[in-house]
Amino acid sequence: MLNFEFQNPTKIIFGKDQIAKLSSEIPENSKVLMVYGGGSIKKNGVYDQVSDALKEFDVTEFGGIPANPEYAVLLEALEIIKTKDIDFILAVGGGSVIDGVKFLSGAATFEGDEPWDILSKGIRTYKGMPFGAVLTLPATGSEMNSGSVITREETKEKRVMGGPGLFPKFSILDPQVVHSIPKRQIANGLVDSFSHVIEQYLTYPVAAKLQDRIAESVMQTLIEVAPKVMENPSDYDAASDFMWSCTMALNGLLRVGTPNDWSTHMMAHELTALYGIDHARTLAIIHPSQMKYTFEDKKEKLAQYAQRVWNITEGTLEEKAKMGIKKTEDYFHSLQIDTKLSDYTDAYENTSEIVKKRFEERNWKGLGERQNITPEDAGKIVALSY
Ligand code: NZQ
Ligand code: ZN
Repeated sequence: MLNFEFQNPTKIIFGKDQIAKLSSEIPENSKVLMVYGGGSIKKNGVYDQVSDALKEFDVTEFGGIPANPEYAVLLEALEIIKTKDIDFILAVGGGSVIDGVKFLSGAATFEGDEPWDILSKGIRTYKGMPFGAVLTLPATGSEMNSGSVITREETKEKRVMGGPGLFPKFSILDPQVVHSIPKRQIANGLVDSFSHVIEQYLTYPVAAKLQDRIAESVMQTLIEVAPKVMENPSDYDAASDFMWSCTMALNGLLRVGTPNDWSTHMMAHELTALYGIDHARTLAIIHPSQMKYTFEDKKEKLAQYAQRVWNITEGTLEEKAKMGIKKTEDYFHSLQIDTKLSDYTDAYENTSEIVKKRFEERNWKGLGERQNITPEDAGKIVALSY
């Protein structure tokens, strides 16, 4: 096991009807900015529950954060934070709203002139404005981590930011919210969380048995509840396992003491930036090609994954490893998620060149757990995904 430090300060409040606890989690006399997305919370009762819980607070609302939170929209919210002396932000939504709020938290305390620098120059946030979250969509794990991904339509960019100051103070996870999520988004959540585990697990063995077993159990749980939650999102037990698995997939626990990959996410983000394809679907496009391209580096863990997660007991190490890739593709397909870029856009042909060039411009020399995926390799992996 590799050396590590681990600290996750986010308080999780999990379960039925827990949104009412909001009032005791936000510091008294706070001036709160409540941030939400395109309006799903007004149709499923979450808005009413949050409004009820915030009765005693001075609250300003900011709705309209789009999926893939947009920089220009966030700047409008930042202006409100400044003019209204806001001192606490509440995110009510999925990963996009929570990520948007993390950007606001970092930008509100940022001392430079151009908040985009936080993203383009990789400036970490050590102390942000305090914020909490009411999660409405299990997927990203943003509710219990300190990362954020922001989109800028003007330049077709999607960039990451983070830092120890960007953990939510608390996140409320009521699995009942799953009942109103469209099937397409549930499938996205199942794939995104699965991908988060893969990025931290399908690397090379470092004798981290416990992290391996936790990762495998998160994947097995997702696979087991996937058909149930797709069929009936009101199944509370399935929704609970789904929600908690998504949080566990990316709250830092799997990452510690192990090598981490994340190259699939980096390539996939470019596909969302260029073509607006849902985050999870871009992962489903890149993962199989990336696994095939890096097969020699990953085959030990791929074989272990095939055996322990998919019960592939026959064959050589290589054969098992290949079955692991096939099973992953089959899993994505079982959720009606296509795995080729050409399934999503006709304009795919130059994508490999564009991704390669962007990675070169950002001076990203080597991605992946061995830092050996060059911009050229990234271009080739993207081409394999056409
Ligand atoms: O905007 P509203 O109207 O609320 O509708 C949303 C949105 O259209 C809807 N929705 C959410 N909860 C719902 C609901 N509809 C009905 N009932 C509910 N209970 O779902 C749509 C998608 O929401 P969004 O927040 O965009 O989805 P998700 O949670 O998948 O977040 C995706 C974003 O997170 C980033 C992605 O890149 C993408 O921008 N990621 C963030 C990460 C992190 N911070 O750690 C890691 C991930 O790898 C990922 O990159
Ligand atoms: Zn993701």
